[in-house]
Amino acid sequence: MQKKVRWSTKAYDGYAIRDRLAPDETFSHVGPSTLAGEYLRRFWHPVAMSSQLDTGYPVAVQILCEPLVVFRDLSGRVGVLHRHCAHRRASLEFGRIEQQGIRCCYHGWHFDIDGTILDTPGEPQDSAIRHQICQGAYPAVEFKGLVFAYLGPPELKPKFPFLDSLQIEGHDLIPYSIHSPNNWLQETENAIDPFHSVFLHGRISGPQFPGLEHFVDLPVVVYRQREGGIVYAHARRTGDLVRLRFHDYLYPNLAQNGGMFQVMDRPKVFGRTSLTKWVTPLNDTESRKFGWRHFNDSDEVLRQGSREEVGWEKVDFYGQTAHRSYQERQSNPGDWDAWTSQGPMNVHDREYLGVTDKGVALLRSRLRQGIRAVSQGKNLDVLEGSENRPIPTFGGDTVLCLTKKSSGDAKFLESVVDSILDIHMLACRLGDPDRENFIKRKVCSKYPNSIQQ
Ligand code: FES
Ligand SMILES: [Fe+2]
Repeated sequence: MQKKVRWSTKAYDGYAIRDRLAPDETFSHVGPSTLAGEYLRRFWHPVAMSSQLDTGYPVAVQILCEPLVVFRDLSGRVGVLHRHCAHRRASLEFGRIEQQGIRCCYHGWHFDIDGTILDTPGEPQDSAIRHQICQGAYPAVEFKGLVFAYLGPPELKPKFPFLDSLQIEGHDLIPYSIHSPNNWLQETENAIDPFHSVFLHGRISGPQFPGLEHFVDLPVVVYRQREGGIVYAHARRTGDLVRLRFHDYLYPNLAQNGGMFQVMDRPKVFGRTSLTKWVTPLNDTESRKFGWRHFNDSDEVLRQGSREEVGWEKVDFYGQTAHRSYQERQSNPGDWDAWTSQGPMNVHDREYLGVTDKGVALLRSRLRQGIRAVSQGKNLDVLEGSENRPIPTFGGDTVLCLTKKSSGDAKFLESVVDSILDIHMLACRLGDPDRENFIKRKVCSKYPNSIQQ
């Protein structure tokens, strides 16, 4: 058998790598009974925006390669059902929404949101069909403008992953959703790769995000594993000012950034996230981001965010959609252009990872562990939260005033990131405002005068 050649190693030798290599099936295939497919089915995923249901018609979607319909019945309950009717497989996207559930257009079978059959009107009165089978159905939750579903084994259904960031005082969460013609992992990896910000959002075509112009400098980055995910932080110094930014990554596809449209030219502690987002796999080669922009007055002091620009296929910061001319995308490419251009399914065998890819490598190895565990029949410890005891998250920014060390400043910055992360993690089970006060106290005692103007 011909040996797989992964890289060209000589000048003018593209010929060596002319053959196509296959993507890594561990991650790329998300359909039923595939490795990643079964792993991903252990978590809640956003599957639609509430606004899509407001038309009064069912919405046809594909999630993890399964054709589904999502609808809100006339009593306000949300249903997520297999798209093809249990009778003779007409699509329920043409069904009629009822007070309770939905009725298939073809022969009128009537299904509740849990898939039970309420009526088979053409069958004899004493027909037992409705006690014999159900329409395929999944549990669903509608929350702050997004609809979530759980497509996994019913007996393993975790609680809805309620995050602490969903109830930050003064945050107004505006939902949005954007399609990408590529496998779910590509955009997911973008969120754990702080080095792309230096180049894509800074050096290549100039700063793209107001308030984050310092992204052009290479950061000091610390990754930390946490229950259910990874938290990482990066720091950059300008004079005596050290800007730290925290990111959340929760398995398998949830990320939170630091703040948008903020000013980071003076000390601040425990700024909060501007973005909570999931990358839902639609099938092997398409994904859809669902998330919320967090509008707030405390961190977004530049007031350059725009609620009107957030919604279906749009969000109010640079380079997140296909909706720019090709020329514009070439001259000033954004995130969407980068991850979609990796192809419908990125071929990892053709990549050549460096030190800037530490986060991506860590993420892949942790996902692999999860995928392996599920394939071996083990249970996953899936994060669960509730309004009273939400899942702690860390996405946000802190700016400290710290004199530059004449030697070993990079090491010093790393120790600063480490200790500030420690402090955040110590405080994570406290509720607001105790949490913020605790963090401030600890930062002041560790680095006296660091948060004075
Ligand atoms: S196909 Fe749906 S009721 Fe017949
Ligand atoms: Fe980015």
